[in-house]
Amino acid sequence: MPLCISVDKTRASKVLEIIKKLGFLSGEYKITRSDNQVLIPIKVEHTNLVEDLLKDLPIIECNPPRRRTPTYVKMPSLDYIRDIVIVRRNVLDHISVEDLIYKVKAVYPRVKAIWVKEETCDLYRRPVLRLLWGEEIKEVVVKEYGVLFKVKLGDVYYNSRLAEEHYRVATMVKSGEVVLDAFCGIGGFALHIATLKLSLVIANDLNPIAYELLVENILLNKKRLKGTIIPLNTDTRELPSFLREHSIDRVIADLPHQSLEYIETYTKLLKPGGILHLYVLSKPYKDVKQEIIRRLSTWYFKECVSVLEYSPGVFIYRCDLVKPETI
Ligand SMILES: C[S@@+](CC[C@H](N)C(=O)[O-])C[C@H]1O[C@@H](n2cnc3c(N)ncnc32)[C@H](O)[C@@H]1O
Repeated sequence: MPLCISVDKTRASKVLEIIKKLGFLSGEYKITRSDNQVLIPIKVEHTNLVEDLLKDLPIIECNPPRRRTPTYVKMPSLDYIRDIVIVRRNVLDHISVEDLIYKVKAVYPRVKAIWVKEETCDLYRRPVLRLLWGEEIKEVVVKEYGVLFKVKLGDVYYNSRLAEEHYRVATMVKSGEVVLDAFCGIGGFALHIATLKLSLVIANDLNPIAYELLVENILLNKKRLKGTIIPLNTDTRELPSFLREHSIDRVIADLPHQSLEYIETYTKLLKPGGILHLYVLSKPYKDVKQEIIRRLSTWYFKECVSVLEYSPGVFIYRCDLVKPETI
């Protein structure tokens, strides 16, 4: 049973003020009136203190109505790409479709489409999208640090949260370097590098639609490019059959689920002393570090940094390594 302080209505506002200041007021119940008495609900855990401090005021059992507690639904985590919103499937476990649409429209009044990402499928890491609301728009042009990218959502891998990483890696490249972006998608790293540095970037992806968009994106940014990009559409494992061995200064291996399966290829192509940016999926940092050191024991391990949270507690790390002079 709730407890209330019973106070004459003439003193009620003064007492209420004191109770509020002391933090004794219960937010769960409403304040009620009975004849000339006002019943102020208090937090049960503070009963003794209230008795000590407000000795002349009786504490009685009461039955006030409950306050209606507003149900706040947290805005789900989502990607906003131009006027398109993409939410993950599991978001709908915590919020109704109506609530989601209402909230998204309140925060992004210009939104034209809301897609649900059901899963990421196949070798091409394509998202399977289901339209929840709005127009069936999948083709957009996005801007990352001034670099333009045409994206066909659902046909290629694209993650707007990688923009900063694309830029960060591009700043590490030195002018004159030959860089291989081994799993380039629509050209995220390649275009940032060629925009910033006078370098040669070999950009490769197995997905033919990603390749088409890569070519379009090179043309879209033609005027901004300082470096040169060579677009390729093949399996990265095939590259050593037509690229010279030990000819690459830096390899970007952004295939977090499987990048470790291509170590032989990176080893063949990188110059001694060349740099490997290896993207891997892992839980705690110490696990990823141990695994990399075990697999690439002769390489100089620089560091692994967490780039993105992939799912709760699972991160995509970028591990930077230097190929030894001897292999
Ligand atoms: C995580 S995505 C890369 C994203 C890209 N680096 C970016 O920043 O947007 C991985 C890409 O690797 C490509 N891929 C998968 N296996 C491949 C292979 N054996 N050879 C070349 N590309 C491959 C997929 O088509 C996909 O576009």
